Amino acid sequence: MSIEIRTVGVIGCGTMGSGICEVCARAGFDVVFMEPTDELVAAGHDRIRRSVERAVARAKMEPEAAEELLERISSTTTLDGLAGCDLVFEAVPEQLGLKKDVFAALDEVAKEEAIFATNTSSLPVIDMAVATKRPSRVVGFHFFNPAQVMKLVELVHTVATEEQVIESARRFAEGLGKVPVPCRDRAGFIANLLLFPYLNSAVRMFEAGYATREDIDAAMTLGCGHPMGPLALLDLIGLDSGYEICEALYRQWRDSQAAPAPLLKQYVTAGYLGRKSGRGFYRYEKPESSKIVDAAAGAELHDGAPVGTVGIVGTGLMAAGIAEVVAKAGHDVVLRGRSEASIKKAKGATAKSLVRAVDKGKLDRAEAEAILDRITTTLEFSDLAECDLVVEAVAESLDVKAAVFQELDAAVKPDAVLATTTSSLSVIDLAGATTRPDKVLGLHFFNPAPIMKLVEVVRTVATSDEVEERASGWIRSLGKHPVRCRDRAGFIVNFLLFPYLNDAVRMHEEGYGKPEDIDAAMKLGCAHPMGPFELLDIVGLDVTYAILNSLHEEFRERRYAPAPLLEHMVRAGYLGRKSGRGFYTYA
Ligand SMILES: NC(=O)c1ccc[n+]([C@@H]2O[C@H](COP(=O)([O-])OP(=O)(O)OC[C@H]3O[C@@H](n4cnc5c(N)ncnc54)[C@H](O)[C@@H]3O)[C@@H](O)[C@H]2O)c1
Repeated sequence: MSIEIRTVGVIGCGTMGSGICEVCARAGFDVVFMEPTDELVAAGHDRIRRSVERAVARAKMEPEAAEELLERISSTTTLDGLAGCDLVFEAVPEQLGLKKDVFAALDEVAKEEAIFATNTSSLPVIDMAVATKRPSRVVGFHFFNPAQVMKLVELVHTVATEEQVIESARRFAEGLGKVPVPCRDRAGFIANLLLFPYLNSAVRMFEAGYATREDIDAAMTLGCGHPMGPLALLDLIGLDSGYEICEALYRQWRDSQAAPAPLLKQYVTAGYLGRKSGRGFYRYEKPESSKIVDAAAGAELHDGAPVGTVGIVGTGLMAAGIAEVVAKAGHDVVLRGRSEASIKKAKGATAKSLVRAVDKGKLDRAEAEAILDRITTTLEFSDLAECDLVVEAVAESLDVKAAVFQELDAAVKPDAVLATTTSSLSVIDLAGATTRPDKVLGLHFFNPAPIMKLVEVVRTVATSDEVEERASGWIRSLGKHPVRCRDRAGFIVNFLLFPYLNDAVRMHEEGYGKPEDIDAAMKLGCAHPMGPFELLDIVGLDVTYAILNSLHEEFRERRYAPAPLLEHMVRAGYLGRKSGRGFYTYA
């Protein structure tokens, strides 16, 4: 039964329903939405009007086009009002019983050939389909928030969906200017099955007091280039929707990692639903506002003893990058390496990076020369004696690093701070190699250090408050953004990022999605700068494998154990870009 879609119905005009109304009306369709009461109908129209006015104010829409768009949207308080629609979306709250009731009632009044589409994020589409007498005409049509902006639509077919219906839905999605990615019917589809365990882990991390909400959010925006941190994103999605989605994922997968964090339930019960209620992880100016009113101020510059000369141990990529950052901030730097050749290479890398900055007009030549002149090199630990702070950036091996800390402890003045850039070892193990554990901490820079703003400041059980304060202030004085966390595997970013990458590998391994589709879903649905497979190939599959193993060793959760496919690819030498082949093949 083919159908030409002219009039679109939308049940529920909340966060998503209002966006769907706007998108469809913008594409020229007549739209009728349904909310159960006159007040809710008025609120729905208001929500759409405000969004359209914002688009006009940002010059994204002409005022006349906005008027025409609004005229195409009408409303009703009963499902009878949707009887003439060719395609009806439901966007009521994420509760299976409610959605089934809505579709069953709609089935009684809708045209026989009408297509029903659910915007569910996580519930089985088949359960809703069989609540109607037209299971073959029911699809999942999963928009992303904000529907007006996000390009992705996950188009979900059940075992009962007719081919022609999928085809009509696909064409309709393209007509809206969206990119439909086909999915089979299982909880979470692609994007949410990867996104929500990550969001839920971030809530647990916050709940455990591991880091502040600001630091967790800053770590993921600055460390991974995500447009929003996980807690701010949950506030946007709605904590109630987030809770229900985690619940549905747990029901399907029985994985305790998906079970909603207890704090999420507390917030939802208290009515802290995120932006829509004016309070979630953050407080907002008023309901539906995006303006946060209780943001914590950034860390102050420390007023303790100033940091003068800085030592750097190591001659690799990170050491060269950190030397550049530190010298650029005006410090004298003493870079210690094991051989003349490696020192020369490191200084050469810093010089090259500075030349690039000059070529791009970001630095003048004299400045670049002065920066380079501030970096002296040595083969001896004793030349670091007068440094106020030493950053260790040698190979990621506990034995190698511990030996360096022992040498440093003996060579450097007693009140100097010793920092490690490790991304996976325990900082306390290194502190234990010294006689000054209170002055040892982690400073986890990201690669490339001159560009990446984020630095994780990692304190151990032994680090003194003063040293942590001083180090955070110093990082800020370098023009970087410090986030504070405690000494456990993965810190903030790797703990949240790598299990997500592992989940993506498992999804592909199970045959649920191709790397291209999964990457498209995460880029278009979550506005990530890269999909998980693109990122895996850049990070290196061997590095990923090692980080997952260190997470698994610490937390012993199945989710962190590297996916068998990842392990096999590493064994085969498919390491990503650096070996010319990973999940993609490179020229
Ligand atoms: N929020 C997101 O980021 C997001 C993204 C994609 C999909 N979804 C899914 O979209 C659906 C809606 O989520 P939301 O965030 O828009 O929720 P919401 O709470 O903002 O909106 C739900 C709307 O449904 C209305 N409603 C409730 N019962 C109704 C009924 N019986 N008939 C008609 N209207 C009714 C409510 O008044 C409300 O306006 C959920 O299934 C959710 O999982 C949400």
